[in-house]
Amino acid sequence: MVGSLEARLARAVEVAREAGVVLRERFGHREARAYVMKGSQDFLTEVDGEIETLVSGLLQTSFPDDGIIGEEHGATGRLDGVWVIDPIDGTSNFARGIAHFCISIAYVAGGEPVVGVIYDPIKDDLFAAATGLGATLNGERMQVSAATDIRAASIECGWSMRRPVADYIALCGRVMERGGGLYRCGSGALGVAYVAAGRLDAYVELHINAWDVLAGVVLVREAGGVTNDFMGEGGLLGGAPILACALGLAAVLQDITGLRLPVHD
Ligand code: IPD
Repeated sequence: MVGSLEARLARAVEVAREAGVVLRERFGHREARAYVMKGSQDFLTEVDGEIETLVSGLLQTSFPDDGIIGEEHGATGRLDGVWVIDPIDGTSNFARGIAHFCISIAYVAGGEPVVGVIYDPIKDDLFAAATGLGATLNGERMQVSAATDIRAASIECGWSMRRPVADYIALCGRVMERGGGLYRCGSGALGVAYVAAGRLDAYVELHINAWDVLAGVVLVREAGGVTNDFMGEGGLLGGAPILACALGLAAVLQDITGLRLPVHD
């Protein structure tokens, strides 16, 4: 790997902020909100493509040997030592003028995500982490919540049409039966970042793509939380389930979701 982890983290932060300037400028404009549908509840705006081109171009200029996987333009180059980019996570919110979306940038090396940067340009929230270097929100160290009681927990359950609706209904039902507070805010990347920051106690979704969650996985692990083995389940190219949570909820959420967490193997 040419260039250190620190260099990649620092560059990803700069690139996310640069892309954020463009995204903030476009947000709310009528023409930026126009979308086409890739499938049921799956939206694409012109700005998604514009931001992805900007982010991947900047990263490739800095690290020409690295591969790129982007939500809109697919994979180029190597698949280990690869940047994984979601130009707008929460596109449905962006297209409706709802200020809850972000840019997500992860770097994968040795088969695991090792750098994660998520930037919400409207709230100016910059979440950043690299393996062994800790996790920060706007430069301040962040930590998952100390939650242990699901009856006081805030849990986001994302969903898409990629899995049977009945499976999501059953999952949400199990969370509610145990007294968990259910959220669905429309950005998986921000949902997982909020777990790292202790704003939410858990994020779960039965199938999600790598660009939506890999940056968040680094954030949560570095903030003292746990996630399932997203990469081990083939998540880089095919997507996989995600469960990211505070340590104190690991046992109950493993039971509810059937997903394995490392602390309870
Ligand atoms: C979607 C969002 C949503 C999640 C979906 C994702 P997009 O990504 O993260 O919250 O539930 O699974 O596909 O389309 O906004 O990049």
